[in-house]
Amino acid sequence: SGSSKGAAMVTAVAQRVTARRHQSLSSFRLSRDQLRSVKARMRAGLEAGLKSNSHSPVKMLPSYVFRTPDGTECGKYLALDLGGTNFRVLLVKIRSGLRRSVRLYNKLYPIPLEIMQGTGEELFDHIVHCISDFLDYVGMKKARLPLGFTFSFPCLWKMFLKKRFSWTKGFKATDCEGNDVVDMLREAIKRRNEFDVDIVAIVNDTVGTMMSCAYEDPQCEIGLIAGTGSNVCYMEELRNIEKNGLGEMQRMCINTEWGGLGEDGCLDDIITEYDNAVDRESINHGRQRFEKLTSGLYLGEVVRQVLLDLTRRGLLFKGRVTEALKTPGIFETKYLSQIESDRLALLQVRSILQHLGLDSTCDDSIIVKEVCGAVSRRAAQLCGAGMAAVVDKIRENRGLDQLNITVGVDGTLYKLHPHFSTVLQETVVALAPQCYVTYLLSEEGSGRGAALITAVARRDQVEM
Ligand code: GLC
Repeated sequence: SGSSKGAAMVTAVAQRVTARRHQSLSSFRLSRDQLRSVKARMRAGLEAGLKSNSHSPVKMLPSYVFRTPDGTECGKYLALDLGGTNFRVLLVKIRSGLRRSVRLYNKLYPIPLEIMQGTGEELFDHIVHCISDFLDYVGMKKARLPLGFTFSFPCLWKMFLKKRFSWTKGFKATDCEGNDVVDMLREAIKRRNEFDVDIVAIVNDTVGTMMSCAYEDPQCEIGLIAGTGSNVCYMEELRNIEKNGLGEMQRMCINTEWGGLGEDGCLDDIITEYDNAVDRESINHGRQRFEKLTSGLYLGEVVRQVLLDLTRRGLLFKGRVTEALKTPGIFETKYLSQIESDRLALLQVRSILQHLGLDSTCDDSIIVKEVCGAVSRRAAQLCGAGMAAVVDKIRENRGLDQLNITVGVDGTLYKLHPHFSTVLQETVVALAPQCYVTYLLSEEGSGRGAALITAVARRDQVEM
């Protein structure tokens, strides 16, 4: 009959549409073999970065942190945290002995985009303004506290003296890159001339996270950030570090800056046209290719590129490309996490999309959820493949058949996304079966970690 013919045609069209959509999403699917190969490429990146004269995209920066805390640390410290979602200033009080504890007082200071991407002097003046406000708040302007600065960017020490850095993520303040962070902070403090501090340590957030978790669990020798950015640090054997020039210690924490993997094209076979679009529109074109596949700042953008493409091809949103859809940054990590939550009814997905200015049908919201799932799953798998490379390297370093190790973790993607952590962990189990990895969520890792490193560095008399 006519009506059943009509129904069959509708079904056929629906199937074709589904097939075309699946084709777009299949480029995000990675086979076990592909993931194994990513693990091998990460391993090669780690090894290359450890060579003294290398220009490896995985930078493998020495942190000059030689050991994790042992509980004997104590004192009052000022800590700064720049490079995640907010700028924070903290006062950290560490007690040792039987009443061993870490107490924190902190204040959040948002950094306006025009300052993030303005001049370096403005940025550092703003930072010092916040510190001054905070010292008033805790009533410690006269104290000249030792300061640990969690500075979540690649930063290279030249024998303790020069801490040259480059920007990643959303930061692009001018006249900074290649400068010494400590000098820039010191000069800004001098310009303001209201208080003084003793700058003891500059710390990457991964290292802070590892240290703060190691305070709770001595088996913690890796720090992972899966948030706005993506990065890992771990304890490497000094004999493997050609860059160091220090003899007597056994290990040093290395900030891998693994987000740089792929800058030499080694990930091109898994990178999709959508990833390339995100890279082209980013403020650091060609850089941080692994980070752009795995971290919160970019996943939403990858999703948006897929949605744009599906809409242009008439497969979504009735083929209407709206202003909202053309707006970079609308899909923040928190929306991805909400959309992918299993407890959420489709109606609620629709209302989130509505809130973002996207009018959707029920089918549309199913598609959006599928796209988010494909993009975040790939991100978690890639991080897992990277982590598998790191734990297996540590295992081999120590000549062990089996390694038990703890990873300290922080970052909104890991903590808030409903599936990211599970997929990451499953991938590590599959790709590094000889390693038994425990994941410990860090609480206030950057602030506590910076203070602990400052305490350890002071005691070990490592002068910056
Ligand atoms: C970026 C930075 C790195 C930081 C990471 C997580 O990858 O380059 O230093 O650890 O983001 O915040």
